[in-house]
Amino acid sequence: MIDEYGRVLISAGVLLREEFIVLLAKHEITSVWIKVDSSYNHEISVMQNLVSASTRLKMTYSMQNAFHSQDGIASHLPQLSEHVHQVVEDLMHREHVLIYLNDVRFKSDYLFMHSANVGIFAIVIGIKLGLEAEDLFCLGMGALLHDYGKTRINKAILDKQGALTWEEFNKVKEHSLTGYTILKTETKFDHRMMLIALQHHERHDGRGYPWGTSGEDIHLFSRIVAVADVYDALTTDRVYRPRIPTHEAVRMICQGSGTQFDSAVVQAFCKATVPYEIGTGVKLNNGLYGTVLRLNSMDTARPILWTAQGTVNLLNTPELHVVASL
Ligand SMILES: [Fe+2]
Repeated sequence: MIDEYGRVLISAGVLLREEFIVLLAKHEITSVWIKVDSSYNHEISVMQNLVSASTRLKMTYSMQNAFHSQDGIASHLPQLSEHVHQVVEDLMHREHVLIYLNDVRFKSDYLFMHSANVGIFAIVIGIKLGLEAEDLFCLGMGALLHDYGKTRINKAILDKQGALTWEEFNKVKEHSLTGYTILKTETKFDHRMMLIALQHHERHDGRGYPWGTSGEDIHLFSRIVAVADVYDALTTDRVYRPRIPTHEAVRMICQGSGTQFDSAVVQAFCKATVPYEIGTGVKLNNGLYGTVLRLNSMDTARPILWTAQGTVNLLNTPELHVVASL
């Protein structure tokens, strides 16, 4: 371990004992990254390249063209289809496919960036639900275009800082029906794809929009995109609020299970999500601080921690839970 001037503080391989930690704290070093031996981290493998860099780039470019196009969506569909097939191919045959935000997240203009993220998240959740390749493709395409109706809403309203007026909010809500109508008029899409645009703001308990459809009357693909959509929105910086930490967003999604969201989809989402990255500092309910050493495949929300009192496996200590990530 070296400091910003290149001086060696602790040599590689040295056991990080408590006296060293105290010493580091005296130098105002409050957290460190620990490189864990890959054989030690065998229980779960988080994909470093969930979607290949070239697929991401091409997809971002195509989304930009499709969403900013003046001549309609239809002419962009062959290219988008090609990318979604590639993403399904990239993800489908991975043994442990997990949503790992820093790897899959696109960072650019919010609307198409969000759409691309939701497309990938939805495919990952679909994989956890055991969907076949053809269904995953259909789900991915529909998810990419779920907010297409927003291209017809004034950008000043979409990017407004602060609360929307009642009229503005109603205007935004029109995007589901608008998107569905455009896709129905301009494309020969599978109807399930179009339903995603129409139903992704419906809620499991029937309190969503535009029609207040509930339960299994909402198509499974729409129920999946509802979760992927909210998760991406919560964990992204917006003009009106900063992003919410990953574990907090996962907790909020779980709270909505059975009311806002279909509980089977939430379960699949939890299997697909890594709430804490390896190396994250956390505080436990007993006041102890720790660093995430590795994840338990049984429950990624209860990782194995390194603490001043040694290794703590949260899977075996139900009395302990994380109260904050640092
Ligand atoms: Fe939407």
